[in-house]
Amino acid sequence: MTPYQMLLLPGDGIGPEVMAEAERLIGWVNDRGIARIETESDLVGGCAYDAHGEAISDATMARALAVDAVMLGAVGGPKWDGVAYDQRPEAGLLRLRKDLELFANLRPAICYPALADASALKRDRVEGLDIMIVRELTGGVYFGEPKTIVDLGNGQKRAVDTQVYETYEIERIASVAFELARKRKNLVHSAEKRNVMKTGVLWHEVVTKLHRERYSDVKLEHILADNCAMQLVRWPKQFDVIVTDNLFGDMLSDEAAMATGSLGMLPSASLGAADAAARRRALYEPVHGSAPYIAGKGIANPIATIASFAMCLRYSFDLAAAADQIEAAIARVLDQGLRTADISQDGCRTVSTREMGDAIVAALDTD
Ligand code: IPM
Ligand code: MG
Repeated sequence: MTPYQMLLLPGDGIGPEVMAEAERLIGWVNDRGIARIETESDLVGGCAYDAHGEAISDATMARALAVDAVMLGAVGGPKWDGVAYDQRPEAGLLRLRKDLELFANLRPAICYPALADASALKRDRVEGLDIMIVRELTGGVYFGEPKTIVDLGNGQKRAVDTQVYETYEIERIASVAFELARKRKNLVHSAEKRNVMKTGVLWHEVVTKLHRERYSDVKLEHILADNCAMQLVRWPKQFDVIVTDNLFGDMLSDEAAMATGSLGMLPSASLGAADAAARRRALYEPVHGSAPYIAGKGIANPIATIASFAMCLRYSFDLAAAADQIEAAIARVLDQGLRTADISQDGCRTVSTREMGDAIVAALDTD
């Protein structure tokens, strides 16, 4: 068996705590002989800044480019609030996304049955919810130039961010959404703001053309991004796949996460284009951040990170059965009434990060 190489970047805040639990699942894959996964760990974010004065070093980037998959915990925290903009912890994550060309960010929002009452929305709105948000990740206002603050010299400053999209960027992310929809409920909502933004006008035009030419078997709905935000709260189950730009995707995925019970539940995969051997560069990370206010307490929810590893098995290593097993183990543990603090519920047992990891590992082998 050729071993898979993974780079683990636990990062800051609760990152190392949740990554430690995902590592136990990597151990399970190895112990059961499902695959051989070799891991190495490195620094990203504030901890990398403390060590090398930058949020990710060139050496770490080189390792990220060489491995089969990268897993990241979280970056950032108040400790680095005063750090120069280019060195801030988030810059490490953005460089990974950009330099690995991970243009497709998949953020599934699934409501586990046991958590329907932990959602901020009423049970009937979220029970059975299964949405895939496909966020463009290497373009738009996150990376567009100019991106500056200019001193106007009269006591005023002018800040500029630039939202830019080119046809190919929209085509390739929309293709990912249409392909995914074909394996799901065959419905894509494309969200933009064509009523005020030129990038929205182009987005709408490109998605419409691509749909007509290559994906007319998939049902396509165009939706304004603000309406999409509203509809996600009103009746989230109307959605299957939502495709949208970098900034709208950032916001809509946080919103969708709350429908599932907690931000601590949401995994993500960031994928590049497939090469000739159908291999893609990939980075897996929980959608939640570094949660500095609970870091070090051992109470963070490791489920999003464990589910991110399941996505790695599915999308990078073609091990769908093992991914299914991990996802089923998560569901089983939730059914047993175990909850970390973020999803605590009356009548359930509140457990630590480690205990949640223990329970998921134990539940894997009860089939
Ligand atoms: C996310 C995060 C990041 C983003 C931050 C940490 C830069 O919010 O992955 O959703 O804005 O993309
Ligand atoms: Mg975000």
